[in-house]
Amino acid sequence: MSDLLHRRFLFVTGKGGVGKTTVTAAVALRLAAEGKRVLIAMCDAKERLSRMLGVDTIEDQIVNVRPGIDAVRITAEQAMREYGEMMLKSRTVYKAVFENKYTKTFFSGVPGLHEWAMLGKAWYHSIEENDDGSPTYDVVLFDAPATGHGLDMLRVPKVIVEVVPPGLLRRDAERAWTMFQDPEQSGVIVVTLPEDMPTNETLELDATLRSDLKLPVKLLVINGVIDELFSEAERSQLLQPHSLDRSKPGDAAIGAAIRRAIRENVQAESLSRLDAIDAPKLRLPFVYEDAAVPHVVANLSERFAHLE
Ligand SMILES: Nc1ncnc2c1ncn2[C@@H]1O[C@H](COP(=O)(O)OP(=O)(O)OP(=O)(O)O)[C@@H](O)[C@H]1O
Ligand SMILES: [Mg+2]
Repeated sequence: MSDLLHRRFLFVTGKGGVGKTTVTAAVALRLAAEGKRVLIAMCDAKERLSRMLGVDTIEDQIVNVRPGIDAVRITAEQAMREYGEMMLKSRTVYKAVFENKYTKTFFSGVPGLHEWAMLGKAWYHSIEENDDGSPTYDVVLFDAPATGHGLDMLRVPKVIVEVVPPGLLRRDAERAWTMFQDPEQSGVIVVTLPEDMPTNETLELDATLRSDLKLPVKLLVINGVIDELFSEAERSQLLQPHSLDRSKPGDAAIGAAIRRAIRENVQAESLSRLDAIDAPKLRLPFVYEDAAVPHVVANLSERFAHLE
């Protein structure tokens, strides 16, 4: 946990449905337990965080969801409006520029601008200050969109820094990008499942984050890990060809054992492939009940306490 404790901005990313929002909620609870003031910023179209925390639906205004934890949902449209207003310093000027029918199509046609407005808004909260100059939040946890989208989003500030001429847009993107690349200030938490496809995607994601984007990967969370019921020897025995008569109870039981052995095998292979990723790893257990409820998320958050 110590490496996550002192960051200002943490991205949580991974393939769709692997548990990013669950992990975001669990990390937020853990950081708040350590006395941090946390903002969860998310861009899920379907907002599931509120159910995990047992609070009302989270909208696009910041709300307090737990002691020390605020949350906000970021939509592209609102982020564009706020970002435009911030840059142009006035709603009237914003309207004239962004809501003008010609420039409107122009701006919505700029690839990546929506993504940057969303990410930029989340980043902006991480440098936001109270009246006395102290930071409003110790850390912003960004529940990023699933891999493909998440990476596209992360690429935008890099592209802006590389191609946009100096000006306001570039100034902010440069500040954000410098901060995202700084392992003292920021980091990426990658979430995966110990299965074939998510493992492939995670290995690719990790490579892209490191070599292409040069962003610090702080933690790999392997979510939904099942207990191994069988030893390797038992597994390989079960995975031999069998001729089963499913109508016989004994054979049906062996069939069930075979299915479990297959799953355990896939998991063991995935875990050993994921070992290649050079980051601390945390395994979270597969939960055999509805996991999107407060007590389960609180239990999962305990696991983060034992991180080195
Ligand atoms: N360890 C676990 N055991 C069992 N179920 C889990 C576990 N972690 C998450 N889940 C469940 O899996 C589903 C997907 O989790 P979650 O919403 O966190 O994924 P996500 O990566 O944020 O998805 P999306 O890409 O759609 O935003 C949820 O119903 C969640 O409760
Ligand atoms: Mg999610």
